[in-house]
Amino acid sequence: MAKKKILDYETVALDDEKNALVIIDQTKLPYEIEILSLTVQEDIWRAIYLLQVRGAPAIGVAAAIGIYLAARAMIASDMNDFYEQFKKAKDYLASARPTAVNLFWALNRMEEVVKDNMEKGVDEVIAMLHDEAVAIREEDIWVCTQIGENALTLVKPGDGLLTHCNAGQLATVKYGTATAPMYLGQERGYGFRIYADETRPLLQGARLTAFELHESGLDVTLICDNMSASVMKKGLIDAVFVGCDRVAANGDTANKIGTSVVATVAKRYQVPVYICAPTSTIDLNTATGDEIHIEERPAEEITEMWYKERMAPEGVKVFNPCFDVTDHDLIAGIVTEYGIARPPYSNSLQEIFNRKNEASKNKSK
Ligand code: MRU
Repeated sequence: MAKKKILDYETVALDDEKNALVIIDQTKLPYEIEILSLTVQEDIWRAIYLLQVRGAPAIGVAAAIGIYLAARAMIASDMNDFYEQFKKAKDYLASARPTAVNLFWALNRMEEVVKDNMEKGVDEVIAMLHDEAVAIREEDIWVCTQIGENALTLVKPGDGLLTHCNAGQLATVKYGTATAPMYLGQERGYGFRIYADETRPLLQGARLTAFELHESGLDVTLICDNMSASVMKKGLIDAVFVGCDRVAANGDTANKIGTSVVATVAKRYQVPVYICAPTSTIDLNTATGDEIHIEERPAEEITEMWYKERMAPEGVKVFNPCFDVTDHDLIAGIVTEYGIARPPYSNSLQEIFNRKNEASKNKSK
């Protein structure tokens, strides 16, 4: 039997028999594929905090499944008691990571199910929470496919594409966001040349993007984070596709630290930068990037992780923000499942949501 490849595994799923959140432990990749089956809330919180499950859409799905599992375990005298416990569990999971808005988006969506059904019985609401978590997961596949189709209209066969961090299948349920046009292009014989930044300090580009694209047979070249100017100056890059953790109403975009460096360099070399963003990552309640809470992580990620021995002097000050904000004027387009938003983003992002609302009205008719 052929050996299972990384993309044959589910990134994030619900095991109904074991009542567990099932994830690939992404901290172990690429050398070890360890599947975790998590039932305890503290373990689910830790998995999100430690980046065992990571990437904005996957975090959202994990949180939806996590809160459903928490709800199942609640012993409640009535719906009011249930709702009080639900809110506590929700706040707990929401505290795992601050930047990716999908975490809050998914938990809010789950809370809506409870709020809208307070007149029903607890068991019935738990069943509805199950279905909502499953729906959030399933929708992610459709969303990524649509992002891939829309992004593919921006490039041509043979193009060189640069990506940063991992906005691949490992960050979503399937296909990824920034990688969706790459996988679709492969199916359609586009022959893209892909450049993956290694993405210090946690190496999501080297360990995850290069891994999943290479194993899937795409033409991927790994480069260090400080090489983007060099490959762009050589004319090797026709477009940059990256994912995001939160897009503000004016188009400012938080993504993995280093994205704004790539975008600044890309402007110098006139390479368009496209942000691949499910609408669940667009936060119209955040006016600009200045309001986005940027997660800071432990110094050890820079000073010693991945090295045989510590590579920085003991006691040196370390600054380790995990994301940065790319200013909207560096972004050529924001690719969503409902089309591509172009500057000025305050209008075009609203237009994307109008299309989304229209589509959901038509669906419920
Ligand atoms: O810290 P991470 O690995 O969760 O950061 C992930 C990213 O920055 C991704 O680019 C983003 O979440 C989009 S994933 C489709």
